[in-house]
Amino acid sequence: KCAAADSDAAARPSAGALRDAADARDRATRDAADLRRRLDECEGDLKGLRIHKEDAAKARDEAERKLREHDARVLRAEKSINDLEAAADARVAAAEQKIRELEAENAAQIGDRVAAAIRGERLKIEREFRDELAAARAQVKAAERLADEERDKRRKLHNRVMELQGNIRVMCRARPPRAGAPSALFPREGCVKIRQPEYCDDADFEFDAVFDPTSSQIEVFDSVRDLVTSALDGYSVCIFAYGQTGSGKTYTMEGPADKRGVNVRAIARVLEAASMRSDGVSYEPLEISMLEIYNEQVRDLLRPPGAAAERLEVATATGESVVKGLTKQSVFTADEIEKLIAAGARHRAAGAHALNKDSSRSHSIVTLYIRGTTAAGDALSSKLHLVDLAGSERLDKTGATGDRLTEAKAINKSLSALGDVLTALASQRRGHVPYRNSKLTYLLQDSLSGDSKALMFVNVSTDADDVPETLCSLRFAARAHDVALGQAKKNVAPAPR
Ligand SMILES: Nc1ncnc2c1ncn2[C@@H]1O[C@H](COP(=O)(O)OP(=O)(O)OP(=O)(O)O)[C@@H](O)[C@H]1O
Ligand SMILES: [Mg+2]
Repeated sequence: KCAAADSDAAARPSAGALRDAADARDRATRDAADLRRRLDECEGDLKGLRIHKEDAAKARDEAERKLREHDARVLRAEKSINDLEAAADARVAAAEQKIRELEAENAAQIGDRVAAAIRGERLKIEREFRDELAAARAQVKAAERLADEERDKRRKLHNRVMELQGNIRVMCRARPPRAGAPSALFPREGCVKIRQPEYCDDADFEFDAVFDPTSSQIEVFDSVRDLVTSALDGYSVCIFAYGQTGSGKTYTMEGPADKRGVNVRAIARVLEAASMRSDGVSYEPLEISMLEIYNEQVRDLLRPPGAAAERLEVATATGESVVKGLTKQSVFTADEIEKLIAAGARHRAAGAHALNKDSSRSHSIVTLYIRGTTAAGDALSSKLHLVDLAGSERLDKTGATGDRLTEAKAINKSLSALGDVLTALASQRRGHVPYRNSKLTYLLQDSLSGDSKALMFVNVSTDADDVPETLCSLRFAARAHDVALGQAKKNVAPAPR
């Protein structure tokens, strides 16, 4: 009996243990209430941010609409100037013809009165013409001023929207099929659907934009036009093309001579926008560099003709990725850009394999360096990186052996390092980001680390044979789409006071 009572006592919790349990329960209830309150606050913040983003996007749309109206007004005014000039020319020509006729008739017969009348008529025509022309010019000036203001507003709003969204933009471009019916469908804007005959379900992917095989180089460039000009406001911008070999990365970035791609158009656009800036920023001449990463070695693509392809080192000691000894060239005109980039592209490592006879066997990075001083005297510096990655590929499909196999392994290794960096950036705990695992990520470190804007084109083939690779690329891109780089920051250093 006694033993049973002892065991009862042991089984019953002591008063102290009960108190502890009650305290723990109270603490947990308090913590839960606290957490709920913080959750409510976060939801409130999120709601505010969403509304803010929607407002900014609405305002941008409105600014764009106004800009279109102003552009149309400028066009109309220019046309009316042309019409006026043509009419005035015709009137002056008619008057001169009349003079000539009268003179020919008989110079002696023309009395002073007739000559004076002709002179008067001529002066009148000229005066009217000048007045009309001046009024039309003033109209054009006013319309241009308004358009400039709207452009400025739109630029600022675009930057604001990008800051609020703050992550990597991802756009998909599908190339036309080489043979047979395309394996991709484009059911609505921003969506690509891949048909998988061996499964019941098709796979849908949503991106910031999707370009079907009929899209032109201009349409594709238009989607990055605002992004590239934001480099002039001090944001570093990185645009890269990712995808299976033969999927159209080089076509998108470089493009054939008669259908130039993003590289030349983007740099020409920045050059043009820098010359049109009306808010007092003065830019130093823009400089370009061009390099390739081949088998994990960095090589200068703008080296003088005939010079050996030396292996260059990358340093990141200053927080900025710098390639020591890399050639930089100033550019002033669109023509110079075109020639320079074409010359660099000729230096690039290429090779034929079973899937693409002009396959790029290296990653190429064209960089535009922008430096300037704001009206307030602040120093502004940013970079625009345009990256054409070498193709991701399945080694068995390309039939690679020997050197080609070494290249393919280096390419795949660096692309998976890029994937790891994006995954690390996407993960909630922003601990270690493995930038050092490849030259590519090491070099792009300062453009993939939070204070920059990044855009990835995922290029895909629409051939039925390529469906597994297409799905692989789209899944990689969908992961990149989730990366939150945080808010982009301007690289503007205050002037020494
Ligand atoms: N959108 C397109 N419209 C028409 N032709 C295209 C398009 N995209 C690619 N091509 C053509 O397909 C071929 C392969 O394209 P490209 O060389 O750009 O592929 P890539 O992705 O750079 O391949 P790699 O990774 O092997 O370098 C080229 O002949 C190119 O002209
Ligand atoms: Mg290529």
